[in-house]
Amino acid sequence: MAGLTTDEQGIGLKIYEGLVTFMEVLMLFTKMFLSWLHSAYRFIVPPEPKDVKGEIVLITGAGHGMGREMALRFSGLGAVVVCVDINPDGNQGTLELVKANKGIAHRYECDVTDRSAIAAMAARVRREVGDVTILVNNAGIMPCKSLQQHSEKEIRTMFDVNVLAHLWLLQTFLPSMMEKNHGHIVAMSSMAGVVGIRNLVPYCASKFAVRGLMEALHEELREDKKDYSGIKFTVICPYMVDTGLCKNPKIKFPTLMKIVSPQDAVDKIVDAVRRNYPEITVPSSLYYINQYLRVLPRSVPLHLKDFLDSGVEADC
Ligand SMILES: NC(=O)c1ccc[n+]([C@@H]2O[C@H](COP(=O)([O-])OP(=O)(O)OC[C@H]3O[C@@H](n4cnc5c(N)ncnc54)[C@H](O)[C@@H]3O)[C@@H](O)[C@H]2O)c1
Repeated sequence: MAGLTTDEQGIGLKIYEGLVTFMEVLMLFTKMFLSWLHSAYRFIVPPEPKDVKGEIVLITGAGHGMGREMALRFSGLGAVVVCVDINPDGNQGTLELVKANKGIAHRYECDVTDRSAIAAMAARVRREVGDVTILVNNAGIMPCKSLQQHSEKEIRTMFDVNVLAHLWLLQTFLPSMMEKNHGHIVAMSSMAGVVGIRNLVPYCASKFAVRGLMEALHEELREDKKDYSGIKFTVICPYMVDTGLCKNPKIKFPTLMKIVSPQDAVDKIVDAVRRNYPEITVPSSLYYINQYLRVLPRSVPLHLKDFLDSGVEADC
């Protein structure tokens, strides 16, 4: 820059840097606005449900409740279902129901808290069925009592089933999805993973953890240099589903906060997976109510919580 003084060169450089930053911030706001517009459009016009025919769907806790219902629903859509459960009778029952519906299913007994048992089961699944393309981390337990009444063993087991098992299964089945940049991870959290509920302190902690691990894993893949956009993530947060897991529900307004059937819950769950929704609540209204209430001071939603007076009584 012949003819310019050092001061003038410095000012020129600063103006240039300011312009670059301004353009970058403008780009950022444009992207955020377009993304928001796209979400608003998708709220009005939902994406088409994807075809799951031929996908290999592994469901943990497939021997009962929502796991069983998901096995029936995915197999009915032409997916090959891999039923995993610690309970052989329940798992066999699911297999028979799927087969009676002319679906394809395989069953594997496995305690999902046992990392080496998962590795052995996964090797058999790979050999006998193929690479899992949709992993549904569904198995869960829910002891229900005050924190002081929980034994150390109960708390540790709950974290083993509700949280650590997700990590072991992800470490096992995610690599083949990453190789093909194709797959879907579904995790069963709960409304107890969105709001704190009395008598469920360790359970709430485990279900909040599920949402955290799913968000972090999604970020880890999104920020990777390789393209993993073909791997989708869906977190499911049901309120109360009539499977027997929740033994003493307390509901003041049953029409407003009703207990849904496993069939109705799974309608919503499978639909969310097929449309690649990142997170849903069942019922869906709770998602929006929670989002709006969260921006208010903490004491405000507590009044609504007290008014609704719903939750769970202790098991014992
Ligand atoms: N039912 C509800 O109201 C409700 C609400 C919110 C979230 N959820 C969550 O949804 C999921 C499914 O709930 P559900 O009501 O269908 O449960 P469920 O009790 O009906 O079925 C759970 C299944 O998991 C299996 N299982 C338990 N421990 C296992 C282990 N160590 N290894 C392998 N399998 C194991 C059980 O044998 C059973 O078949 C759970 O994660 C639960 O926390 C349930």
